Amino acid sequence: MTAATRQEQLATIFKSATVIPVLTIERLEDAVPLARALVAGGVRVLEVTLRTPAAADAAKAMIAEVPEAIVGIGTILNADDLARARALGAKFGISPGATPGLLKAAAASDLPFAPGIATASELMQALAAGFNIVKFFPAEQSGGIKALRALAGPFPNVRVCPTGGIGEANAASWLAEPNVVAVGGSWLCPPADIRSGNWPGITAMSARAMKSLKPA
Ligand code: 3PG
Repeated sequence: MTAATRQEQLATIFKSATVIPVLTIERLEDAVPLARALVAGGVRVLEVTLRTPAAADAAKAMIAEVPEAIVGIGTILNADDLARARALGAKFGISPGATPGLLKAAAASDLPFAPGIATASELMQALAAGFNIVKFFPAEQSGGIKALRALAGPFPNVRVCPTGGIGEANAASWLAEPNVVAVGGSWLCPPADIRSGNWPGITAMSARAMKSLKPA
């Protein structure tokens, strides 16, 4: 697969998403009901973060048992995580950052991948490695929409999925920015709701978000 095809696939996935829930799964048994709850609310593109011991098996279970979900792996910190995501059958990978080693591994992989950036220099390193669709992280904490607009000046061809501090109250404002392709965040899946198995609540929140938010 060429780098351009890989980037196009990522653009298509992100554009189809509008909202990408950032999932931290503590218990494997929550994975499938959680994915089903999100899909039932119209949220199909899911980011399973590699932040817990259960994460990889959780992603594997979602991929096997919830075919309507488009499952990606988040919190990819190094080349090993990237290889793990690829081996799991993830459709895409996302990182909070962009180290030279990770960018090199991602450029050599056919997994659609979004590195994380918060500064112009980080973005320039991502671009030099061939990645023009990036995660802006942590979005609100790094200057919010004002910072994103400032970055759009020197980098007009970059498309961004902001995450970090995004929720029901501000998701629409981010999606209205011309360089935003989708927004990510953990707000659709509060840990307490996952712990208590509040799947109807997660479906309801997802449906509300998908109804109220205009696609990017
Ligand atoms: C991420 O990795 O994208 C963030 O942890 C999500 O940030 P949030 O919890 O503020 O939505």
